[in-house]
Amino acid sequence: MPDRDIKPYIIEQLKEGRFHLAAIFGNDHPVELEIGIGKGRFLMNEAARRPDVNFVGIEWASRYYRLAAERAAGKRLSNIRFLRDDAAHTLRENLPDASLSALHIYFPDPWPKSRHHKRRLIQGPFVLQAARVLKDGARVLLGTDHAYYAEQMEREFSDHRDFTLVSRLFGDEAPEGITNWEQKFRKEGRTIFKFEYLRRARDLAAPARA
Ligand SMILES: C[S@@+](CC[C@H](N)C(=O)[O-])C[C@H]1O[C@@H](n2cnc3c(N)ncnc32)[C@H](O)[C@@H]1O
Repeated sequence: MPDRDIKPYIIEQLKEGRFHLAAIFGNDHPVELEIGIGKGRFLMNEAARRPDVNFVGIEWASRYYRLAAERAAGKRLSNIRFLRDDAAHTLRENLPDASLSALHIYFPDPWPKSRHHKRRLIQGPFVLQAARVLKDGARVLLGTDHAYYAEQMEREFSDHRDFTLVSRLFGDEAPEGITNWEQKFRKEGRTIFKFEYLRRARDLAAPARA
């Protein structure tokens, strides 16, 4: 099979500077971001289901990122783009203030050894950037099979004044998801932890935060 042209589906990495999302998509529909898309199953399903929403998927593994872009090209989805980068860098350097309607992070690498915990994505500086790039009322959806990372996710978001916990569902309470890793983990009988947060409305009178 000839290689599909994935160029229209790719957002070029920017060392610094902000993306112009309306120019990237050719419209100003709401934009949702998924970090660590793997093979892109969740994002592709959502893009097909909700054509009036734009979706950006960040993935740092080039094999997965290419595979997902090829699949989106095959389905001719016009509301999806992919970016190969470290998501912490993208949030910090490239995403404009109040530009996203939702942030999806499913089964981020848990880095279980304590000397590797500093590599985890969901930490204070990341949550600060998430608060900056999300619009007022935007949703954050998180999932993990790792109990200690679940604790850290909940602590980091609940401790931040810009986020309100909407739901925390564990094990059988957690709704069935549609990512590849969730399916695999459920088959293995692992407990799944899911959180939903809302980005609170900005208080215009409060001093700006970094
Ligand atoms: C355990 S997999 C989960 C994939 C998918 N979310 C799912 O649930 O099926 C984690 C994915 O996140 C990617 N990833 C991890 N850290 C990342 C980062 N900082 N920036 C971008 N991608 C990252 C990995 O390459 C991997 O594909």
